[in-house]
Amino acid sequence: MKVVTVLYPGGEAAKTTPELWNCTEHALGLRPMLESTGHTLVSMSDTGAALDRELVDADVMVATPFWPAYITKERIAQSPKLKLLLTAGVGSDHFDLAAAAARKITVAEITGSNVVSVAEHAVMQVLALVRNFIPSYQQVVAGGWDIATLAARSHDLEDKTVGIVGMGRIGQRFAARLKPFDVQVHYYDNRRLTTAEEQVLGARYLSLDALTESSDVISIHAPLTPGTDRLFDRARLARMKRGSYLVNTARGRIVDTMALVDALKSGHLAGYAGDVWYPQPAAADHPWRTMPNHAMTPHLSGTTLEAQKRIAEGVQDCVQRFLAGTPIERDYLIVDGGRVVSPSYSYAYGSG
Ligand code: NAI
Repeated sequence: MKVVTVLYPGGEAAKTTPELWNCTEHALGLRPMLESTGHTLVSMSDTGAALDRELVDADVMVATPFWPAYITKERIAQSPKLKLLLTAGVGSDHFDLAAAAARKITVAEITGSNVVSVAEHAVMQVLALVRNFIPSYQQVVAGGWDIATLAARSHDLEDKTVGIVGMGRIGQRFAARLKPFDVQVHYYDNRRLTTAEEQVLGARYLSLDALTESSDVISIHAPLTPGTDRLFDRARLARMKRGSYLVNTARGRIVDTMALVDALKSGHLAGYAGDVWYPQPAAADHPWRTMPNHAMTPHLSGTTLEAQKRIAEGVQDCVQRFLAGTPIERDYLIVDGGRVVSPSYSYAYGSG
């Protein structure tokens, strides 16, 4: 059996940090497990021609959202032995799910593995924007002391309205972590929570349009699907409150690249933060690197060392079960038996 992993390069950090399981060098801890049982592991960071060559006779392919290998329907067609596509993390949009379903290839991800990691990052980025942290930090490093300029864009989060788009595992954890800040939480999801769940989280359900128009801060936590691709397009960004903030730790393509730049340049939005880009890795001249009033990071919120351990253990479990011919954890399945089975994706693919 041949397993191919495409992960981010570990470089010098991999030499000193064995816990960096999500990098090419440490390959999610799969090497000893596979090689001791006569299987083959190819671990690489190439997402182009070298990957094409390795996929031709691969049985299992593991990709990571942090350094995505986009497995298109053409690549699936050129890889006749592929039976399992695994995401080392959460969010399987780098796989063509419809093409995988048509070929009866199983797609799975490590559900829940990094949901706290992302929720914490999103709270941090909301605060970074609302409190005007990045320019304040930059001023300190540059030797300045101009408080008026900084304070003119600094607010309390208390009493603001925070809208959550996508109230799944991360959205709910984000809402729970906001509770002590005494904000009004609104949410939109195409699957409404129960009233008991809404009460526990203190979250009120609104239509997407009502949420867009009423929120001081919006945080996106929905998967990238045909239904969310550029959900925040020019028209939706224009409907957001003037001076509001947008945080996106879900997927870069949910927000229209140039419409966002224009909304920040005109001052309609007061700030944007997140860690997801399209494509990834983001080019050195990606317009989001230089747009005004942003607090972006590279895609790292879900790859803390704690998350990496959970992701590696989950991937090992899936590969072991696949080799043993036993079913993969039900919660992990995105595509199974020729259908999109994950409730978070099936709404958009219509095959749940
Ligand atoms: P989840 O599956 O638990 O929740 C997703 C929620 O989005 C579900 O409640 C679903 O009903 C909802 N949803 C689906 N389509 C929607 C639509 N059109 N409008 C509104 N809501 C919609 O997934 P989880 O664990 O909360 O992760 C969410 C996403 O966050 C992932 O799919 C992934 O893209 C992203 N993510 C990012 C990470 C990072 O490092 N930045 C790490 C982990 C996940």
